[in-house]
Amino acid sequence: MSQATAPNTATIEEVQTGPVPRHVAVIMDGNGRWAGERDLPRWEGHRAGMSSVREIIEGAAEAGLEHLTLYAFSEENWSRPADEVEALMALLEEYVATERAELAEKGIRVTVFGSLERLGEGAIRAIAELEGATAEGTSLHVHLAISYGARGEIVAACRSLARRVAAGELDPEEITADQFAHALYTSAWPDPDLLIRTSGEMRISNFLLWQLAYSEIFVTDVLWPDFSRAHLFGALIDYRGRDRRFGLVRSP
Ligand code: FPP
Repeated sequence: MSQATAPNTATIEEVQTGPVPRHVAVIMDGNGRWAGERDLPRWEGHRAGMSSVREIIEGAAEAGLEHLTLYAFSEENWSRPADEVEALMALLEEYVATERAELAEKGIRVTVFGSLERLGEGAIRAIAELEGATAEGTSLHVHLAISYGARGEIVAACRSLARRVAAGELDPEEITADQFAHALYTSAWPDPDLLIRTSGEMRISNFLLWQLAYSEIFVTDVLWPDFSRAHLFGALIDYRGRDRRFGLVRSP
């Protein structure tokens, strides 16, 4: 694991000199601290964080990533004060209303995963509009994790396999890691090559616990609202220097 204590930036020209990861996942952290440093209410930090979402999606498309997964709202976030939860849901609806057409125009596809049954009508409608409007996109595929928790996802996958065993459709001895992965929300995409976490916290926070098994991790002190595409490009350049061995030894 590496921690970039100093802001680590790069240009698109530097990124274009070599390969980029196929899939980058991001824990967007630090909105509350960003607001606190400015004596602003926490929702102002989330609003500023929404601009970084736009910036990073554009940067990811520019860099040629295939998949970008953003942790927008965790299952644990439901326990935050009601006004903050309401503000985050309102921002989601605002985001869809303002960004939908442009995302579609740029060929960016957005899909959402998580325990979506917990969302209110407005948020569910906004997600359906966003997924519908961008369904034909073939450039970057953005995955928004909303009301998501990895432990819940893993338990749900166990339940679905157990149901098939109980129905006599599946022999427990035939359950493989690949088959298990197919029971997760993320079955259709490659695992993240790189996880970025902003705001300096060295935690996974119940995010993609199965899928991050061999991902490289990049933690930066930059707070999410200050995280620009130059910071994303810096992380992509840092990733290029990693020696990914997937538990094997390096070939001589
Ligand atoms: C963590 O910061 C961030 C969140 C819980 C929400 C992330 C939301 C956004 C980036 C904006 C909305 C996004 C979309 C896609 C519309 P924190 O509040 O935990 O910050 P702190 O640790 O400094 O308190």
